[in-house]
Amino acid sequence: MPPQPDGRLRIAIDGPAGAGKSTVAKEVARRLGISYLDTGAMYRAAAWLALRFGIGLTDADSIANLLEQKPPRFTCDHDGNMEVYWSGERITEVLRTPEVSEAVSALSAHPRIRQILTSWQSEYGDEHDVVMDGRDIGTVVLPNAEVKVFLTADLKERAARRANELTRKGLTTSTEEMALAIEKRDAHDTGRTIAPLRQAPDAHRIDSTGRSVEEVVDSILSLVPWEYSS
Ligand code: DC
Repeated sequence: MPPQPDGRLRIAIDGPAGAGKSTVAKEVARRLGISYLDTGAMYRAAAWLALRFGIGLTDADSIANLLEQKPPRFTCDHDGNMEVYWSGERITEVLRTPEVSEAVSALSAHPRIRQILTSWQSEYGDEHDVVMDGRDIGTVVLPNAEVKVFLTADLKERAARRANELTRKGLTTSTEEMALAIEKRDAHDTGRTIAPLRQAPDAHRIDSTGRSVEEVVDSILSLVPWEYSS
């Protein structure tokens, strides 16, 4: 896609859970010196708020009201780091717990919650050069992104990566348990009516199975039009 009139560089990375999107997106952002926005963390923050205040996951209006009245704060630097705060409390890590992962998919199917988060994400993309990862970035949030990638990997490898990630954080889970949880979440994300997980027609499909982070990052960087290279 040729550069847009605003001259911004937006890179959309979508794909199923555990495909390596956030690791790769962070590194692409770091190498280019632009922001990284993990949109999954925004949905996770909404789920965390629901759990924190004991709001039922089907009570989308109460969750949406809370999001609007007291929004979480998302900060991005130019080194691929993103932090999430709510009411002064840093919640970046707690968003990755299995409880939040279990809750987030059901909640992310609600139209009002999607509408609020999607508008924050699109606004961010209007104002910043950014690598954004999620499920609907290339299809809904940044339909005019200069680079679109759909990142996949086989289920076994995705489950092993997520299980290792949790083990490193001191939480125990097996690859088998993780594979079941991931499959369930993918089915939810792909099957919902609003903004389902889909490959955008103009996205480049990259399979990260058996490939190093470096290799995948290089493949994505090779898609960035030369006009944006410094
Ligand atoms: O990328 P992640 O695993 O942190 O995402 C958590 C959940 O959030 C995922 O199951 C679906 C939802 N999500 C979404 O619906 N749309 C996005 N753009 C990003 C995440």
